[in-house]
Amino acid sequence: MSQSDRLDRRGFLRLSGLGTATLFAGGGLATLLSGCTSSKQARVVHTATTAELEIALQAMRGEIPILPGKATRVWTYQGQVTKGAPAALQTLPGSYLGPILRVLKGQRVRIAFTNNLPEQSIVHWHGLHVPDDMDGHPRHAIGPNRTYVYEFQVLNRAGTYWFHPHPHKITGPQVYKGLAGLFLVSDDEEMAAGLPSGEYDIPLIIQDRTFDTDNQLVYLPGGMMDQMMGFLGDRILVNGQPDFVLPVATRPYRLRLLNGSNSRIYKLGWEDGTPLTVIATDGGLLEKPTQRSYVALAPAERVELWVDFSGRPLGRELRLQSLAFSGAEAGGMGMMMGRSPALADGSEFTVLRVRVERESKEKQALPERLSTIQRYRLEDAVNRTRPRPFNLAMQRMLWTINGRTFEMEDVAEGEVVKLNTLEVWEFINQPGGMGMGMMGGMAEEMAHPIHIHGLQFQVLERQVRPEMAAAWETVRAGYVDEGWKDTVLVMPGERVRLLLKFEDFTGLYLYHCHNLEHEDLGMMRNYRVTA
Ligand code: C2O
Ligand code: CU
Ligand code: CU
Repeated sequence: MSQSDRLDRRGFLRLSGLGTATLFAGGGLATLLSGCTSSKQARVVHTATTAELEIALQAMRGEIPILPGKATRVWTYQGQVTKGAPAALQTLPGSYLGPILRVLKGQRVRIAFTNNLPEQSIVHWHGLHVPDDMDGHPRHAIGPNRTYVYEFQVLNRAGTYWFHPHPHKITGPQVYKGLAGLFLVSDDEEMAAGLPSGEYDIPLIIQDRTFDTDNQLVYLPGGMMDQMMGFLGDRILVNGQPDFVLPVATRPYRLRLLNGSNSRIYKLGWEDGTPLTVIATDGGLLEKPTQRSYVALAPAERVELWVDFSGRPLGRELRLQSLAFSGAEAGGMGMMMGRSPALADGSEFTVLRVRVERESKEKQALPERLSTIQRYRLEDAVNRTRPRPFNLAMQRMLWTINGRTFEMEDVAEGEVVKLNTLEVWEFINQPGGMGMGMMGGMAEEMAHPIHIHGLQFQVLERQVRPEMAAAWETVRAGYVDEGWKDTVLVMPGERVRLLLKFEDFTGLYLYHCHNLEHEDLGMMRNYRVTA
């Protein structure tokens, strides 16, 4: 029985397109590769592989029931292990999201990505430290029915990384239609930490979506204005499902949260005020657990929570809320644009419900120490007295970085760094100076989740302009800056300094706003690491 049959019979996901047959008919990698070696666009690594794990991954169209009634047309990744442990690939049952790849640090992986979509695409491994031609830069996008082969060694420490499309100007719509999966890395340090595992280690991908009366996804109903602000849906989906309920036992859990939304920022808190115990950020485990009354989670950011449900009565429900905050978008622009007030940016709503369904006697203590993080030191930075500035601003109805928008291979003078150096980068979201006034000044104040490819960085410090401190104060206690990060929220009026080290690989990498509509509008640039 082929995988597509199996999925079909369960009634979960119906796949369409030729690729299904190609991928799952048993031909495996060989079939995939034979079709593409003549392609100029596809980069096929012919060297005899030393990969311990080989995966065939394809992006394709599908249909899945999400709301009662008609199934929803989605785009989805489907994968298959063609060499190595089958457990390296897990699916999220009944979801367009996934698959979940589980790898070990040090492992060599080979992933053959076949694009069975009607337009170009490429897969980016968000958070991974890989050579630039393995990173899924838009210049490597492949057309329909082409294959791109990734081969890299997993150098990252244990953590919750993820993957999603990265084609030029159409990343937002492709992710929106359903393309995103998890890349979970494990290592010795993590295994020694003694965290809940197996069925007690739960990925939770949070997204917002809007459906029409026919149950189909609606993207950017407000056109250009929506694009400039970023898409906000009127429904919250977790792991691809609305009204998500997580059944739990009375014992500790490890929850891995990914904000997979295009532009929505969440301020996560338990409804009963129980503090959140944070154990990991984008780049893996913190040194020790830390508590927050709430956590701010911007698009692409991950946070891992330790939650102990022991002592909670059976049948009890607990809501994870997104709490009210201000400053994500300026001056009520969202409301003016007719967005659903119930889910306006910064309003309060329920993200998911946890239901205590099973008694468990298993006890597991929260570890006091989780990992070792070697702190970068400002004095070691080659530009310690002159942080490299990146101004985030709207100009001529476009979101810009230092006045520029994305061009495929373009690297400006201020975007060249040297291999094996530590630098301070400063992202400055301080509107006012531009004076363009296209939007009456209002939309020029937006939060930007800034993401840097190819590495994990450390947050050095944050500052905010006094006149914009009030909104900032509604989220700042939710920053978890003590761990490794690849995405950092920069609120209006805020200035964030990062320490980054360029190691192992030279080449062209991206940095950009992970509000995917901003990214598609050009709020993205290359930086080059030179030898
Ligand atoms: Cu998650 Cu360049 O992106
Ligand atoms: Cu990335
Ligand atoms: Cu932005």
